Amino acid sequence: MSIRSASERDVEALAAVMAASPLLRRYRVSARLARESLREALRERDVLLVALATDEVVGLAWVITTRALDQAAYLRLLLVAEGQQSRGAGAALLARAEGRARRSGCRHLVLLVTKTNRRARAFYARHGYRHVGDLGGFVFPRIDEALYVKGVAARATARRRPA
Ligand SMILES: CC(C)(COP(=O)(O)OP(=O)(O)OC[C@H]1O[C@@H](n2cnc3c(N)ncnc32)[C@H](O)[C@@H]1OP(=O)(O)O)[C@@H](O)C(=O)NCCC(=O)NCCS
Repeated sequence: MSIRSASERDVEALAAVMAASPLLRRYRVSARLARESLREALRERDVLLVALATDEVVGLAWVITTRALDQAAYLRLLLVAEGQQSRGAGAALLARAEGRARRSGCRHLVLLVTKTNRRARAFYARHGYRHVGDLGGFVFPRIDEALYVKGVAARATARRRPA
C-alpha cells in the first residue's frame, strides 16, 4: 500500500469511492458532488492524499490547514473503500495527514465524525483523539456530529501563543 498526494487524474476514482460509501450516502454525496468537492480541494491546494493498493485507489484523506483554533488543521474526510477496510489504510492515511498538518505548522488536528459511527469513533480514540463535544445537525440536518481533537505540534514543549 502506498500513499501520495492526489491530482486531477485521481478525481474519478476517488469520486467513485466516495459515491459508493454508505456513510456519505447519508449526507447525500453523489458522484457529481464528490467530484466537485475533490476539485475544490485541489483548487484550494488543500492536503488531499490518496491511498493505493497495487495501483487501485482504496482511500483518501482530506486536510484543510488553518490558523484558526490555535493553528488547527481540519480533517475534512478520511475514507477507505468498503472492501478495503481493516488492512491498515485508514491508519496509514491518518498518520500521513497528521504529519502534513504538523509540517504546515499546525498544532492540532480536529475532526467531526457521525455520532452513531461507533467503529470510526473507536478508531480515532485508539489513535489518540479526544472527544470534546457534540454538534447536533451541524453538517447535515438531523445527523449529529462528535467533535474530536488531537495535538500534533512538533514538540510537546512548543510555546503557546497568548490568548
Ligand atoms: C474509519 C476508517 C477510515 C478506518 O479505516 P481502515 O482502513 O479500516 O482502518 P485500519 O485498517 O487502519 O484500522 C481499522 C482496523 O484494522 C485493524 N488493522 C490495522 N492494520 C491492520 C493490518 N495491517 N492487518 C489487519 N488488520 C489491521 C485495526 O486493528 C482496526 O481494527 P477494527 O477493525 O476493530 O477497527 C474506515 O473504516 C472508513 O473509511 N469508514 C467509513 C468512513 C468513515 O467512517 N470515516 C471516518 C469519519 S469521517
